[in-house]
Amino acid sequence: MALEQVWLRLQFTCPTDETENLGARLMEFDSLGLEEQPQEGGDVLMTAYFSHPLGEGQAETVESALSATVPGPFSWSLFQDDGWSTRWQEHFKPFAVGEGLVICPSWESYEPKPGQKLLLLDPGMAFGTGTHATTRGSLLLMERYLAPEQVVLDVGCGSGILSLAALLCGASHAIGVDIDPEAVRVSQENAEINHLAEKTEFSTTPIEHVEGEYPFVLANIQAHILIPMVEPLVARVEPDAYLLLSGIIDTKRDAVVACYEANGCELVDEFVDEDWHSMVMRRLK
Ligand SMILES: C[S@@+](CC[C@H](N)C(=O)[O-])C[C@H]1O[C@@H](n2cnc3c(N)ncnc32)[C@H](O)[C@@H]1O
Repeated sequence: MALEQVWLRLQFTCPTDETENLGARLMEFDSLGLEEQPQEGGDVLMTAYFSHPLGEGQAETVESALSATVPGPFSWSLFQDDGWSTRWQEHFKPFAVGEGLVICPSWESYEPKPGQKLLLLDPGMAFGTGTHATTRGSLLLMERYLAPEQVVLDVGCGSGILSLAALLCGASHAIGVDIDPEAVRVSQENAEINHLAEKTEFSTTPIEHVEGEYPFVLANIQAHILIPMVEPLVARVEPDAYLLLSGIIDTKRDAVVACYEANGCELVDEFVDEDWHSMVMRRLK
């Protein structure tokens, strides 16, 4: 990763028992990474990294959301990357998800056991190593509900992990979209690493412009995006088919369910992990 890259760094202190809740809030606001350093006296120094520059008004929105829990002060500074963006790689090791899928960093080696499917992954700066509760939840539910030979639409594809896992689990083709061009690049690269490129199409096409209806749709995106996206997203699901939603923090769960039920879906299954909800909806006729 480019050593000269510049990030925005937000720092503030909070009580230890608020770190999980605040960490989840920061991720909802597109923080790219978090560090927690315990301080003398029991508080924790939280450091959150964001892309530079932020969108207009984003810093104020983040501060106002955090100040419902902590008083601040909130300190913003520019940060020259010293390897932070790749330090996580040291902790990314092969691991199994669900029945038989093993996610393996592309720079590690792993000999799959009989029945195991191996997904090689280099997420770069895109979201999706499989270690986050929302990706894990999506993978587990996908294994349960995806039928062989289905074409999958993956909205917010990140590293491409869900699209590629779907292909390994029997999907015939995967269409992935993401607003972040870097995510699209990384997804294409991961498809090539896994020799699955000919079964994938990744692009920055907005969901409103994606054509057709799909038998299986995945969207691991935060609730504040899933809710306004409901109409174009449900319109991409074939009647009676499944829509897998994830990225939904506890406090937003009921609002997401109500919104999708009001737009022609019924809740079929749900998986909760570390305050994050993943759910399977069925589009009604
Ligand atoms: C939580 S990550 C999920 C990545 C991967 N699918 C996974 O499950 O690990 C959410 C992704 O959604 C993308 N995203 C956010 N808003 C979006 C939108 N309106 N349309 C498409 N993608 C979006 C982000 O760029 C990010 O890559």
